[in-house]
Amino acid sequence: MTGETAELMSHPAAWTRRDLLDLESLSLAELTTILDTACAFKRATDGCRTRLPLLGGKTTANLFFENSTRTRTSFGLAAKRLGADVVDFTASSSSLSKGETFIDTAKNIEAMNVDVMVMRHRTPGAPWLLSQHVRCAVINAGDGTHEHPTQGLLDIMTIREHRGDVRGLTVALVGDIAHSRTARSNIWGLLKLGAHVIVCGPSTLVSRGWEQYGVEVAYSLDSILPRCDVLNLLRIQFERQSTRPFPSVREYALLYAMNAARMARAKKDILIMAPGPINRGVEVTPDVADGPHSVILHQVTNGLAVRMAALWLVCGVKDRTCPPATGVPTGCVVV
Ligand code: NCD
Repeated sequence: MTGETAELMSHPAAWTRRDLLDLESLSLAELTTILDTACAFKRATDGCRTRLPLLGGKTTANLFFENSTRTRTSFGLAAKRLGADVVDFTASSSSLSKGETFIDTAKNIEAMNVDVMVMRHRTPGAPWLLSQHVRCAVINAGDGTHEHPTQGLLDIMTIREHRGDVRGLTVALVGDIAHSRTARSNIWGLLKLGAHVIVCGPSTLVSRGWEQYGVEVAYSLDSILPRCDVLNLLRIQFERQSTRPFPSVREYALLYAMNAARMARAKKDILIMAPGPINRGVEVTPDVADGPHSVILHQVTNGLAVRMAALWLVCGVKDRTCPPATGVPTGCVVV
């Protein structure tokens, strides 16, 4: 057994939560614990290539009520790398279409002795609501426009890997801030770790309300670009919008797409990130997405490490009857 594996066998004292629902409510110690655990998993598994069966005998269930490629695959693979059994649930082929509520569906799946439920849902607060009804652990894999904690963590892990520390860096989240759960999780995590966070995009998609949390609000990418150490380019979430936020995609791309001309005016060591799926030619041009500054695929690999860490940490909480998170998280409307 390597030293790394031995270190991973003991549950860190800083982690006592049954669920991982958001980054807003995590303490700095909890954030650091999960990021450090993810790094340890990455090292102990040769960059997330090999198995480390610490969760043998455990079962995780992927409950995805919304489409997903990266997150679902990543949670499934992370559980398998840890030796757990994985149950995959797809809303469209389930009894939801026969009128069952999602809580009843989840309770039935839990009755098959599931230890962790990983949930994606279009309603903000749905994983929190689920956590009030089940005894197993719940991990939020994206709830509407609210949060996507493991995406925020894998983004931050990628920045830490390339820059050593997040403190003091200027990180701009560019695009559809209003509808992006990735933006929200990044904001809470990055602020706690001491980054200077800028949200940038059309005024219809970026609220001045973020200023009260110490976030800089900008409407011109060209004006902030020379100061940025990291750009996280967010997709325009047309599926969550009720009105068109700008006249045309072409105009959006002219003002906000990261392209070769803008790269020439950026810092020499700028990191280009995107949570995916990327829309080539809209938020980023192909030469930049595939270029030397892009760490987009590193983010995907780190997603595996973060999800291994999240599954391992919530499974290690001994007292399964410990109370679930209290209080409705901010930014959620629970229905
Ligand atoms: C994000 C999501 O689903 O919130 N993608 C992801 O999980 N990798 C971002 C997006 O859909 O644009």
